[in-house]
Amino acid sequence: MATSKNGLKIQSVLKTDVLIIGAGGAGLRCAAAICEQRPDTRVVAVTKVHSPQKSHTSAAQGGMAAVDPKDPLDKIVYHMFDTWKGSDCSADQNIIRKVCESAWDQIVWLERHGMHFSRTDEGRIAKRPFGGHMLNFGEVKAFRACYEADRTGKGIMDTVWAEALKHEVIFLNQTVAVELLMRNSRCVGAVVLMEHTGAFVAVLAKATVMATGGKTRMYQVSTNCRQNTGDGLALVLQAGLPVMDVEAVQFHPTGIVGPGILASEALRGEGGILRNAEGEPFMERYAPTAKDLAPRDLVSRCIMNEIREGRGCVHPDHGLPHVWLDLRHLPEHVHKTRIQEVCGFFRKFVGVEPQSELCPVTPTAHYQMGGAPTNEFGEVQKDPQHVVDGLYACGEFAAASLHGHNRLGTNSLLELITMGKVVGDRVVEYLRDAPEPGELPDEAGHRALERFSRHLEARGTERFAAIRDALRRLMMDKVGVFRDEKGLSEAIEEIAELKSRATQMALSSKTLVMNQELIQNWELNHLLDVSYVIAQCALARRESRGAHYREDFPDRSPEFHYHTLAYMPEFGKITLDQRPIDMSIYEAQGEHYERFAVIERKY
Ligand code: FUM
Repeated sequence: MATSKNGLKIQSVLKTDVLIIGAGGAGLRCAAAICEQRPDTRVVAVTKVHSPQKSHTSAAQGGMAAVDPKDPLDKIVYHMFDTWKGSDCSADQNIIRKVCESAWDQIVWLERHGMHFSRTDEGRIAKRPFGGHMLNFGEVKAFRACYEADRTGKGIMDTVWAEALKHEVIFLNQTVAVELLMRNSRCVGAVVLMEHTGAFVAVLAKATVMATGGKTRMYQVSTNCRQNTGDGLALVLQAGLPVMDVEAVQFHPTGIVGPGILASEALRGEGGILRNAEGEPFMERYAPTAKDLAPRDLVSRCIMNEIREGRGCVHPDHGLPHVWLDLRHLPEHVHKTRIQEVCGFFRKFVGVEPQSELCPVTPTAHYQMGGAPTNEFGEVQKDPQHVVDGLYACGEFAAASLHGHNRLGTNSLLELITMGKVVGDRVVEYLRDAPEPGELPDEAGHRALERFSRHLEARGTERFAAIRDALRRLMMDKVGVFRDEKGLSEAIEEIAELKSRATQMALSSKTLVMNQELIQNWELNHLLDVSYVIAQCALARRESRGAHYREDFPDRSPEFHYHTLAYMPEFGKITLDQRPIDMSIYEAQGEHYERFAVIERKY
């Protein structure tokens, strides 16, 4: 067992059947699927936060997409088409089919396990429109997002957490996974640091599921909670495994100016209208059919364009550019029953009353379509042909890929619930004759303990906040909604400089127990690593596709019709590869197959 130069070591070993890293919606839906089918399974779930209820899933507002089989107008094939078109023809069609076809079953599962979906007057589950979801292959908006007022994610978390408690999942709260344990190319668990005791513990498991969620805290304006620092992706990279399509970073069009907090697309789904400084509902000019409910990549670019062309406003307190979201005309009952929470955010954070005043909004980093590449069963891939035995991934952390280079709103809650279940099912199969994880591998903890030693021993006068803020500004300016070769090349150099400065951040306390300064420094390195990979992948993709928009290459190009794979076992040593895009619906030549060709994308 490894011991670092300054005496850090793994203090104990815990054995389990399944280790789940990340106890948000995806991780706990997976846990529930395992325990329902195999009640004796020992499941340990590790979460960074104080209680799983604080996971970022709880912040999701607007809804979960699913076609109700009793809907007389909507069809699963329309949802599949919208997801394909929304992805800018770079999602995998086998995943689109799998997820869209199982969507309603998962709504029913949630409802039967206690979720309080909002209802129509007739008592049916209510649905609202969201960007890019349309009927008849793009003709008119669809009502497809099932919701619980404007706190759908909280409803999901309450439901899956209760299931996990019922099945006696063991939670390690305020615990961070610091290294994946591998033996002969099989994943046999992870080393974790339990913050409240300061102990490094090896959790040996037959199967390990990664579900660490979002990773966009490297942007100055972001909807993500402070925990979303890319730790899972960094762990995967350090283990020599690839990440996929990380250049595809989604900017949600309506962040509350200043803090960047999510102002749900549900606001536009309920009839809210974007206006520029002149009061013009400008989306009509850019997307005559979908208007304000065009997909997010497009709406974000339109907002930025309005601002660039001088039709934006500047917020008097924050000094930041923005446009307006007009909710004044929405009926009183909509304000009071469907969007009350998010309207409260406008009151609290920017002092406006949405029933009588315009709300200032600006694009905000929200979601990363890319992540750890998996096959359709959620098995993590080491290359397009091979998976890592014993390692699974689901939720925003993973890229299966349902979203390609642009995700439709409400397809994320859908994905985390459906793929959480898919991974749970696969793990159950694996456990039937999975070997024991065995004893602790000889080199266990080596990488993580070295890393923590370096943080503890670091000398110098660099400050965490200065490096973090510089990273956030440069990611926003040079790797944001609009990108080009010059900005990306500069970003790569600047991130490398920040990485070197980050070695000189001395700690004021060297304890391992609840040392937030230590954890922040560890997280900052992940943000820097993942940012570097994002910028490199964005530089290499010399086309525009979905949320990845290159001003110097404004069109989609057939040359780049693939997923980007990136390996970076050590900072700066990056290699890029490709994974083909699954076109199985198109290739099967069944009904409507022509809709799943590489199609023109107009709204
Ligand atoms: O706008 C929203 O409520 C966010 C939904 C999503 O990201 O899917």
